[in-house]
Amino acid sequence: MSPRATSVYRCQECGFASPKPGTCPDCLRGAGAYVQLVEERSEAPARGRRPGAVSPGRPQSLKDVVLEAGDRLPTGIGELDRVLGGGVVRGSLVLLGGEPGCGKSTLLLQAARALAKARPPVLYVCAEESAAQVKMRADRLGIAGDGLLLWAETDLGSVQAGLDDVKPQALIVDSIQTVFLPDLESAPGSVAQVRECAARLMTQAKGRGLATFLVGHVTKDGAIAGPRVLEHLVDTVLYFEGEQHHAYRVLRAVKNRFGSTNEIGVFEMAERGLVEVANPSGFFLSERPIDAPGSVVVASLEGTRPMLLELQALVSRASFGTPRRTVLGADYNRVCLLLAVLEKRAQLPIGNQDVFVNVAGGGRVVEPAADLAIVLASASSYMERPLPADVVVLGEVGLTGEVRAVAGLEVRLRAAAQLGFRSAVVPQSGAAEMRSVPLSVRGVATVSEALEALLP
Ligand code: TYD
Ligand code: MG
Repeated sequence: MSPRATSVYRCQECGFASPKPGTCPDCLRGAGAYVQLVEERSEAPARGRRPGAVSPGRPQSLKDVVLEAGDRLPTGIGELDRVLGGGVVRGSLVLLGGEPGCGKSTLLLQAARALAKARPPVLYVCAEESAAQVKMRADRLGIAGDGLLLWAETDLGSVQAGLDDVKPQALIVDSIQTVFLPDLESAPGSVAQVRECAARLMTQAKGRGLATFLVGHVTKDGAIAGPRVLEHLVDTVLYFEGEQHHAYRVLRAVKNRFGSTNEIGVFEMAERGLVEVANPSGFFLSERPIDAPGSVVVASLEGTRPMLLELQALVSRASFGTPRRTVLGADYNRVCLLLAVLEKRAQLPIGNQDVFVNVAGGGRVVEPAADLAIVLASASSYMERPLPADVVVLGEVGLTGEVRAVAGLEVRLRAAAQLGFRSAVVPQSGAAEMRSVPLSVRGVATVSEALEALLP
């Protein structure tokens, strides 16, 4: 069957495809202007084989499939290895997404150092920067660069053709939005280019057993440009998150064919690159004020890893009009709900107060287990009375003011004990089983009981 050329018209914002030209039904650009669909011509792929699929040969019995040992290469960065599931798997394609400037190139350059030391050579395709720019970054990071090859090239075809000469053990492509295939008509960074480039790299990774990292820039609405078209294709999707004005960064796996998606890695952006934060709780609590009203520590669980965070609330009388609620690092609607519960079930008249809630150090906590801490921080600020400094608070709060169970209570409490906390206020339902935890644990069934216990 001979391949035939086809045309599709695609929205460059959301990836919507149509067989006819026109405007995107979903996307508007400022001032209500519609987004025009852009024509993409492509050769219809030969039937039968999806790009990226591994040639299966013929069916074999599951019990006969051999696992090759030594398939994982450690990147030398403990936090990254953990998120990957214990190093990067040979022949896998890993997408590292994040907003511009969050440190993706820095992280991969640091990973390339250890990879290059253990299994040279490592090829770093810098399609966004010149080799000199990467060299400057490497100097800043103190990377000598043995076994590390830089290639400032945007034409992916040339890169692929060069691989036979270079024979790299690992490949880094920075970024997928700037490389392109000249035989496709659409522009670099367009959905068609991004998808086809990634598909070729996938086939190549599987064919050569080459560990491949792709950098992907995330657009403002949170999707990797070439909107999420890559997520289903690659083996592993990692997101690198962090506030621009805070030093700490969290690496999170949202998909991992070779490991769990529960693990996170925590880094701090320092003068000389990204530094692993082995004890994130200590990092977040390092500047905690002692005996300040409105400050409560919660033991949140990031995947399987407990992390202690300081929740702060500031409650002050609204000077005019409707009281404001401002929330940073937590869910706005959830906070509004909790304030309503506090007012109605604990008779704390905060309806006419401005309330500001913040997770100190730029942290984030979205799980309901932090509900009780938000309630207590707000109450503490309103009453101008501090909570005991050595207490952690846990519990989901329901609309009737009941305190509900949280998952993983024991690991959370053990982590708190390790950091020197002496007591905990937890949901009644779980308190009885916590006898082995080296903390004085108090169970509460309602918000009022918790207030009674900590702010009598
Ligand atoms: P970079 O890795 O270039 O981000 P990305 O590839 O995700 O766009 O890093 C961006 C920021 O990190 C930049 O603003 C400077 C800062 N930075 C440091 O603070 N220290 C360092 O050692 C390096 C290399 C970068
Ligand atoms: Mg970069």
